[in-house]
Amino acid sequence: MKAIVLVGGFGTRLRPLTLTTPKQMLPVVGSPMIERVVAKLAEHGVTDAILSLGYRPDAFIEAYPDDVCAGVRLHYAVEPEPLDTAGAVRFAAIDAGIDSRFVVVNGDVLTDLDLSAMWKTHLDGGAEGTIHLVPVEDPSRYGVVPFDDSGRVQAFGEKPRRDEAPSRWINAGTYVLEPSVIDRIPAGRKVSIERETFPAMVADGTLFAYPSDVYWVDAGTPATYLQVQLDYVEGRRGPAEPAVASSASIADDAYLERSVIMDGAVVEPGAIVIGSALLPSAVVGQGARVSDSVIGPHATVGAGAQLSDLCVIGDGVDVEPGVELRGVKLPEPE
Ligand code: GDD
Ligand code: MG
Repeated sequence: MKAIVLVGGFGTRLRPLTLTTPKQMLPVVGSPMIERVVAKLAEHGVTDAILSLGYRPDAFIEAYPDDVCAGVRLHYAVEPEPLDTAGAVRFAAIDAGIDSRFVVVNGDVLTDLDLSAMWKTHLDGGAEGTIHLVPVEDPSRYGVVPFDDSGRVQAFGEKPRRDEAPSRWINAGTYVLEPSVIDRIPAGRKVSIERETFPAMVADGTLFAYPSDVYWVDAGTPATYLQVQLDYVEGRRGPAEPAVASSASIADDAYLERSVIMDGAVVEPGAIVIGSALLPSAVVGQGARVSDSVIGPHATVGAGAQLSDLCVIGDGVDVEPGVELRGVKLPEPE
């Protein structure tokens, strides 16, 4: 089984972390996000992953010098310019010589989807494309996908207004596609699979739903990037993983609660860290308090500073001692 993994986006919502590291190379507890995604694919028989790369491709290529990730062979398809989701699929499929049924996944999705069962449903129903759907409370930041009793998709609406969403079932970002889908995608320009290719397939009646209410998170925002990590260390995704890396250094009288402390990170005396992630070699200074926030690699929170409400501190940034920040990104977006 071959899978195209879309990892070429700019990761805008996770800036400033993604200014230096592409989204799917950000660490999720101990391993890069991409490794978590590919390991799941491997569990369902994927042998080859074609990484559809655009933004900062070298970060991926350098991380896997022998072209193997989680036991899966990697192929790198580097776009000359961003081609959007369908353009990226077409480019990667041709680059890797795909000529039979294949899988596509959004590389920021962590899920317990039973891909093997979805593949079988796709085969049995004779669909041209099958998309995994999950139910959510607020569909407005996703592709909204109503379907009929036979599973046929009735419409595909990307990011509708909340009050106009026709369904709670949304596109969960895993597809099984026939190679004929590639021929539908025009060459040489940006094409969105959500806004162009899927609506055309809906019109032809060839797109089917695979609704499955399993664990599912799109880790592409600060809140969800934090959430997926807490899910791993609090045992919501199998046995709980260690929350504090063995090379981290935590002062005896520091206080940690529901947090992930990565390699080489330091929490100094009297500091408090709650509901947060400290990326490798981040430092929280004496008496500082960090809650519901992400501190980037090699960033320093000065003594006595107070950070809360989804602050995101970029790679190597120093937060002044004593300041109080709520929901602030540093450096601030332009
Ligand atoms: N190669 C390449 N080129 N990859 C891209 C490009 C591109 O031009 N643009 C985006 N990507 C990659 C991103 O890196 C990401 O892994 C994936 O495509 C989806 O892009 P996001 O930016 O994360 O999209 P989204 O989260 O707003 O919406 C998508 O995912 C939702 C579910 O998580 C859509 O598919 C929605 O319909 C869906 O509900
Ligand atoms: Mg996303």
